[in-house]
Amino acid sequence: MLSRQVAEKLRKYETPFYLYDIALLRQTLESVTYESKKYNYHLHYAIKANYDDRLLQVIREYGLGIDCASGNELKKAIEAGFDPKTIVYAGVGKRDKELRYAIEQKILAINVESLEELFLLDKMSGEMGVVTDVALRINPDIDPKTNHCIDTGQADSKFGISYEEILENAEELKKLQNLKLIGIHLHIGSQIRELHVFENMCNKVNVIIENLERLGFSFRFVDVGGGLGVNYDVPENEPIPNFASLFSIIHNHLSVGDREVHFEFGRAIVAECGELITSVLFNKTTATGRRLVIVDASMTELIRPALYGSYHNIENVTSDSESNVKYTIVGTACESTDVFQENVSLKKTKRGDLIAIKSAGAYGMSMASRYNLHDLPGAVYSDEL
Ligand code: LLP
Repeated sequence: MLSRQVAEKLRKYETPFYLYDIALLRQTLESVTYESKKYNYHLHYAIKANYDDRLLQVIREYGLGIDCASGNELKKAIEAGFDPKTIVYAGVGKRDKELRYAIEQKILAINVESLEELFLLDKMSGEMGVVTDVALRINPDIDPKTNHCIDTGQADSKFGISYEEILENAEELKKLQNLKLIGIHLHIGSQIRELHVFENMCNKVNVIIENLERLGFSFRFVDVGGGLGVNYDVPENEPIPNFASLFSIIHNHLSVGDREVHFEFGRAIVAECGELITSVLFNKTTATGRRLVIVDASMTELIRPALYGSYHNIENVTSDSESNVKYTIVGTACESTDVFQENVSLKKTKRGDLIAIKSAGAYGMSMASRYNLHDLPGAVYSDEL
């Protein structure tokens, strides 16, 4: 991990901050673009994972488009120089002004998540005198075998339109005057490590496409979302996710003829290149004997452990102690769930040591908050150290 190699150089920066390994980001992008070209797959980066300007600039160099989830994310992507024709916009609750903005930008597709949204978009496009390209986000009812907090494609989920509802309303959908239904979109969940789940997804998509085309629809692309997981347990073993395996599964199981296939990766692109670097403020032991390390970061910089019980590998990168101790690492926020990890074995830790919380490049900074009026964390890039 980068922080271990450059630990002493990190001392000059005010903690907590995110450290980004730009070389690893580039290797990851090289891998995903190389593997996707074998099948002519189209790639979008899910900007919600991290909208850091420097990272966006690197990602853009590799020709990815963007998947966004709000008007502001769309604006950010356009300001960062991404071509609107490579941007898709999903979101279960888009506000009127966000829809209008997306229509104006003429993006690749607005991924529509309810029939009401579809009818509203048709009406708005008519009023604005344009025909808008849309994709239907269908809820495929697949169990992605991941943390329940981050699954999105099961029947009862708030995301997407139920397939049954589309079938029931097919005739009405075909009559929409101001929309062009050019794609099918789905996203079954995040941090998916059991890749056979994607096989189930392909089987469902094949049936959906076949049936809808039989009803007279004609789609130019299928967007199968993101979701590829990373190795939070031992990131050193797998710094770059296995894009080759995923693409080969999709290639072998998705029967979409010559339609374009699109992906929207967030975590798989940026999780491993980011670490949250924080300093030890204090050590103390509770009356029950729990040894606490209090660091100067908290759930306001990285909320994943507090919100989903997520595991991040943690290391003391500056301690030269030979002995390991079991600690509970807690943050500064006034919340009892502000715990990064219980029972973590770290080199003996003292005030001022630097602690690296690994695999934090995705959904770290982008979910940071100013609770307790904390400052937002800064960013340090490996090529500027
Ligand atoms: N496409 C859509 C429509 C999505 O909703 C998402 C993520 C992605 C693509 C990108 O998924 P990824 O490749 O990153 O798995 N905050 C949670 C993750 C929430 C994911 C939300 N949607 C976490 O920290 O684990």
